Amino acid sequence: MEKVVIKKSPYNVKKARIIDIKQLTEKEKLFRVILEDNSWLDYEPGQFIMVSLMGIGEIPISICSSPLNRDYFEICVRAVGKVTESMHRLNVGEIIGIRGPYGKGFPIRMIEAHDLLIIAGGLGVAPLRSLILYAIDNRRDFGEIHILFGCKTPEELLFSDEIEEWGRRLDLHFACTVDRADPDWKGNIGLITSLIPGVDIDPIRTYAAVVGPPIMYKFVIKELLAKGLPVDQILLSFERHMKCGMGKCGRCQIQNLYCCKDGPVFTFKEIMDMAEAL
Ligand SMILES: Cc1cc2nc3c(=O)[nH]c(=O)nc-3n(C[C@H](O)[C@H](O)[C@H](O)COP(=O)(O)OP(=O)(O)OC[C@H]3O[C@@H](n4cnc5c(N)ncnc54)[C@H](O)[C@@H]3O)c2cc1C
Ligand code: FES
Repeated sequence: MEKVVIKKSPYNVKKARIIDIKQLTEKEKLFRVILEDNSWLDYEPGQFIMVSLMGIGEIPISICSSPLNRDYFEICVRAVGKVTESMHRLNVGEIIGIRGPYGKGFPIRMIEAHDLLIIAGGLGVAPLRSLILYAIDNRRDFGEIHILFGCKTPEELLFSDEIEEWGRRLDLHFACTVDRADPDWKGNIGLITSLIPGVDIDPIRTYAAVVGPPIMYKFVIKELLAKGLPVDQILLSFERHMKCGMGKCGRCQIQNLYCCKDGPVFTFKEIMDMAEAL
């Protein structure tokens, strides 16, 4: 009799259990998750997963924990609509669906042994937290590490406990800024771009990793080019509406690139010709 091979569907959804939930700000919650089959998620910083809630929908979300942690993974979700608001109503112990990880993350092998300049705007700190935690866990594999973090107001500061700790570390350079301060704010005030000229980097040795709201990219790239960073050492992560998450439906297409498969992390060199379409 002929052997029948049943291929696993690439759309195969794994059950995952929420084991912890932390309210980070008014709009964002951090979910700590484990896979129900006791396997672990093998991912790279900057990759994303498709998260599904039965009967509600499916959305792309960046993984924000260190890939070296095999006990659980974490996702930070901002409540903006149907699926994300439903996620915010979930409790510890409840089950969600997971596909992935998908996409190209930050090219760790390429950036190791270099200096790192991490520029996070608002929720952009979520995928970058995975890279930061990885670099801290492997501190000796990297040169200087600079982290610049900006958000609109102090109340919107994500991962504030960890940020305080990064600020205290002697092996990191850390600066944080808000667009609008309150009387208790002791840090910088101004756009994140205002921090870049003051960062002391060797552009040839440095990779910049940038994630933030779309408006931020144009101005940050301008500052990085002025610092002398080569175009293939500027790494940018993009968000697009997605459906399949794996290069099949065309929903996330930007000219000839699929954001889900060719990105979400691109070098500026890869996308500079289509800057207008971004
Ligand atoms: C690669 C990738 C990584 C992401 N990582 C995170 C993350 O770590 N945390 C997080 O909170 N969100 C992340 N997002 C955005 C998240 O996927 C959307 O917020 C989510 O799909 C909204 O779904 P909803 O049903 O709650 O909202 P909807 O009701 O579908 O929409 C609400 C609003 O969000 C906008 N929106 C919907 N989908 C997207 C999208 N894919 N990109 C940009 N805007 C969108 C809509 O235009 C609308 O204005 C990521 C998106 C991508 C593509
Ligand atoms: S989401 Fe389907 S091709 Fe990218």
